[in-house]
Amino acid sequence: MRSESDIRLMIQPRNVSFDWADMHLHYMDGSPLATHLMNVMHLALPAGEEWFVETFKEALPYIDDEDLREDVIGFIGQEAMHASAHTTVLQYLKDQGLDPTPFTDQMNYLFGVALTKRPSEDANPRHGLVERLALIAGVEHLTAFLGNWALNETRMDDADVDPTMLDLLRWHGAEEVEHRSVAFEVLEYFDARYSRRVRAYLLIAPTMVWCWARGVRFLMQNDPTLSTPDSRRVRWSDWRAVTKQGLFPNGRSMLRASARYFRRSYHPSQEGSTAQAVRYLAASPAARAANK
Ligand SMILES: [Fe+2]
Ligand SMILES: [Fe+2]
Repeated sequence: MRSESDIRLMIQPRNVSFDWADMHLHYMDGSPLATHLMNVMHLALPAGEEWFVETFKEALPYIDDEDLREDVIGFIGQEAMHASAHTTVLQYLKDQGLDPTPFTDQMNYLFGVALTKRPSEDANPRHGLVERLALIAGVEHLTAFLGNWALNETRMDDADVDPTMLDLLRWHGAEEVEHRSVAFEVLEYFDARYSRRVRAYLLIAPTMVWCWARGVRFLMQNDPTLSTPDSRRVRWSDWRAVTKQGLFPNGRSMLRASARYFRRSYHPSQEGSTAQAVRYLAASPAARAANK
């Protein structure tokens, strides 16, 4: 069920660009852990978003509803732009002596396995496609949650977070909130069964958490400025300190978000505010520069 206050608007990509020349390696308040928690997003999301684009292109010929087709085309444009913006951070990390390639290769492999069309699907192309759309709808619930968090976490404004990076986080977050209903509505168009949605989420959400934990460990281990084994360790208490400072969402809020996805009446429009997202996009330095 859509939220009554949700506004339906035309989804379109913004041709943003970001310059990392002045950014410090530990751009989240000087904290390696908080920074690397964010960095996992730059490492993992391009692979995921590129595969979303491929899967949605595959779904498009089956969609007859004109409004939904328009949303899907806008979604494809936005996700492609997100992937390319995050990829620029990978080069920055390489220039700082932190080569993320071993981890990004793993992410490409994982999303490739999860979302590529298999030869066995030829007999029933829709079946495999719907499974993949259900996985994407699950990931999009999590990205909308993260986007809504980034827009509303005012403690990031008080901390010493690189302003260009903060704009990237909030620009991406705002567009995730803006298009948060698309993957869900595409899934409902193909298969509205509750069991399909829940099964896919139970598979994809723990996988995402596992990827995140693995990515943070990889980055801490390979950070050239962390010289001792102790400084490279990821401790539970450090993670709690980062979330307490408002530099990453805490575990409880993530669990609550997951519980909302299991409601039968769930609709992504109940999460976050389109009006707030649009307001941020009107003020975002990168989005404004893209409009010129
Ligand atoms: Fe995205
Ligand atoms: Fe998205």
